Amino acid sequence: MQKYLIQGGSRLTGDIRVQGAKNSSLPILAATLICTGESVLHNCPDLLDTEYALKILKYLGCKCRREGGTVTVDTTAIARSEVPDRLMREMRSSIIFLGAIASRCGACRLSFPGGCEIGQRPIDLHLSALQQMGMQIEEDHGYLNCSIDGGFHGANILLSFPSVGATENVILAAVKAKGTTVITNAAREPEIVDLAGYLNRCGAKISGAGEGTITIEGVEVMQPCEYSIIPDRIVATTYLAGAAMTGGNVQLLGIDCRHLESILPIFEEAGCIVRRYNNAVSLSCDKRLLPVNLIRTMPYPGFPTDAQAPLMAMMSIAQGTTVFVENIFENRYKHAIELQRMGAHIKVEGRVAIVEGIRSLHSAEVSATDLRGGAALVLAALAAEGASEVANVHYIDRGYEQFEQQLNALGAKITRAFCGD
Ligand code: UD1
Repeated sequence: MQKYLIQGGSRLTGDIRVQGAKNSSLPILAATLICTGESVLHNCPDLLDTEYALKILKYLGCKCRREGGTVTVDTTAIARSEVPDRLMREMRSSIIFLGAIASRCGACRLSFPGGCEIGQRPIDLHLSALQQMGMQIEEDHGYLNCSIDGGFHGANILLSFPSVGATENVILAAVKAKGTTVITNAAREPEIVDLAGYLNRCGAKISGAGEGTITIEGVEVMQPCEYSIIPDRIVATTYLAGAAMTGGNVQLLGIDCRHLESILPIFEEAGCIVRRYNNAVSLSCDKRLLPVNLIRTMPYPGFPTDAQAPLMAMMSIAQGTTVFVENIFENRYKHAIELQRMGAHIKVEGRVAIVEGIRSLHSAEVSATDLRGGAALVLAALAAEGASEVANVHYIDRGYEQFEQQLNALGAKITRAFCGD
């Protein structure tokens, strides 16, 4: 078990380059299975979650290697169509392998996925969509035995909620299906557009990614390709919140500001000066943060649930009250209890959290309870006076590449230690 030791009180200043998007890398790594041969992925972040995805690919028989930010996956010698329980439990997005393995092998056996405990996270939408495309599913002692006689066929899929993972699984199943698939009420996240971008470069015929209706015309032949993954908008938001909370001035490079359009106005409303450039964004803040009207998490292009925790840490030191409404996951306020240990005034009732800003947080020993909640605690500790500890760093390692190195490059004082040190 590792923890962060953080000496708060330093302003975050300077320039850093933001890593590639975790939530693009995972489905794209799964998507490499669909083509036979070697795909080369640039800007693929080195994280626990991408390591888990590579472990699954290797278990299936792929040859994978990483050189810096470039990952090469050779899917020529697939030997298995099963993902064992120990790998499925490592992360929620392992369910993305279902559509990809089934498309490649005509069958797939896997157990129910694990991941951060932020809500129920069922997979009913994934399974019913794939069943409509010809998949037969039998449950067998916690495993799902899936088969598709003669391969997937196209279908009209109406999602009752624009689930990111379900949209990705349907796309993965549909690219080589017989006929055309239309997804109505599809998720519109930039990571969906990125997955479609990779698959189209491999020869798929996907149109409408990024819109509510996606059409996928099945093709017979696809070839692996070289592709560069988009920057991570949630990691960018985390660094911006850190700068805002410490009265800092940072510039993030390698960013697509269009992906941040539901987030940057919130920083502006809080009194930060935000400048948008072609491939960069800068933020400075030289006065106490102001509260914002209401932060409601929504499917893209709304405010992302993954940015809720970092922004809650930020609003905990604003000059007034901010109300959060979490509409995506029902159990995503665990960080609020830990922020309270640092002096934050937060009342949670169901999906609503009322954050009454205080002048400053104090240092404390706190524990990360999930990925983004953990990052929020690090931000709070950076802004607090004195020395704090954040335990359970493995949650943060799932999504942030070289987090402490990046923060230290901006002037933070943060080191990693083994618990018990
Ligand atoms: C993805 C992201 C995650 C983000 C989330 C919402 C990845 C790897 N993860 O997760 O970081 O927080 O989108 O933007 O991309 N639901 C069902 N049945 C299903 C599927 C989902 O009821 O079959 C519900 C979930 O319980 C949740 C909501 O739909 O309440 C959103 O889930 P979904 O969009 O599927 O999130 P993930 O793909 O798991």
